[in-house]
Amino acid sequence: MTSRAALPATEPVTGPQAFFLPEAEVPEMEFAGIRAQYAALRNSIAPRIAEVFRHGRFIMGPEIEALEEALCEFCGAQHAVAVSSGTDALVAPLMAMGVGPGDAVFVPGFTFTATAEVALVLGAAPVFVDVEEKSFNMDPADLIGRIARVRADGNLTPKVILAVDLFGLPADYEALSQVAEAEGLSLIADAAQSFGARRGNRKVGTLAPVTTTSFYPAKPLGCYGDGGAVFTDDPEMAALLRSIRMHGQGSVQYAVERVGLNARLDSLQAAVLLGKLPAFEGEIAARNRLADRYDAGLGDVVQTPARFEGCLSSWAQYSVMAGNRDGLRTRLGESGIPTAVYYPEPMHLQPAYRTWGEGEGSLPVSEALCGQILSLPMHAYMRDDIADRIIEAVRVAVA
Ligand SMILES: Cc1ncc(COP(=O)(O)O)c(C=O)c1O
Repeated sequence: MTSRAALPATEPVTGPQAFFLPEAEVPEMEFAGIRAQYAALRNSIAPRIAEVFRHGRFIMGPEIEALEEALCEFCGAQHAVAVSSGTDALVAPLMAMGVGPGDAVFVPGFTFTATAEVALVLGAAPVFVDVEEKSFNMDPADLIGRIARVRADGNLTPKVILAVDLFGLPADYEALSQVAEAEGLSLIADAAQSFGARRGNRKVGTLAPVTTTSFYPAKPLGCYGDGGAVFTDDPEMAALLRSIRMHGQGSVQYAVERVGLNARLDSLQAAVLLGKLPAFEGEIAARNRLADRYDAGLGDVVQTPARFEGCLSSWAQYSVMAGNRDGLRTRLGESGIPTAVYYPEPMHLQPAYRTWGEGEGSLPVSEALCGQILSLPMHAYMRDDIADRIIEAVRVAVA
């Protein structure tokens, strides 16, 4: 347990010093650029945080509605409901759809655990679907086969397709919507990693009937704690989500109309996001410039991410495929370059989910990707010379 004595002694910081982060203290080499971003945006972020302390409405303060409006304006969705995390952003619409025991929720095998976890939290069953080799996103053809198998087995009722926009690239929502419609299933986009991305002329938030995102600090749009949001054009869904995030509250306080959650976003986190949002479009452009630079510098030595006509990724991660991934990772670490493996195991082989999967060999693409994927530092504030140092280190390491 951490004791108070273990915390470093600090002098109270007041006036213009408060919230100050000197450029000199920002490391040159950051994986997600959280401190570099704060150094660049503190004049927009810090006063908004201070304002929350001034008005004192830490729960459902005015920042929440202001953020929801700003998010809608940014992405074009009719309704945004700010919630406490990207995980609760998934649980709430599943609850609103009445998902529960006996229902099947189709999720990709290559994703973060939250996507699979939320079905089980509600007593439903995750059914793992393989992903496409190039996009890393749910494979619509494999999905059709898995739905047919579930129907043939007769043990579960197919209910929801929960697609993920892995690493920031939107999934193929045209194809997935067709499957959802033909099969009578609901479609949710888990856009935890892709807020700010677009497919054609539509932004993430409007590509599926319900879209969820995460504001975890390292996400393309991150706050300084946990946070998330749900987007929809359906006013009834939005009203249900608002009730569910507030313990199932009705129009009158303490009238409990349904089972809900405590899934509210804090005013402080909303203030942080309001401070960051004006820079977000420019940050997405900068992430894309860095991805282009990596592509040009690395395309002949590792497998760089595939690009898709008309799609703009928000590059939550820039992930390459390398035969000797672990060796490459070790050598980059020795050169002071942080990397990450998203994800070392597909969901159907994780101890917590093995019961619901069909074992090794059942999702061959997801399984192969987990052995080769490696994510490089990616953020909007990386200097070109640092990017070039990373490129050079990868080239030397794989030579
Ligand atoms: C694909 C995906 N879904 C859901 C989540 C859950 O988001 P949070 O950590 O905000 O609960 C994450 C977070 O990493 C994610 O990557």
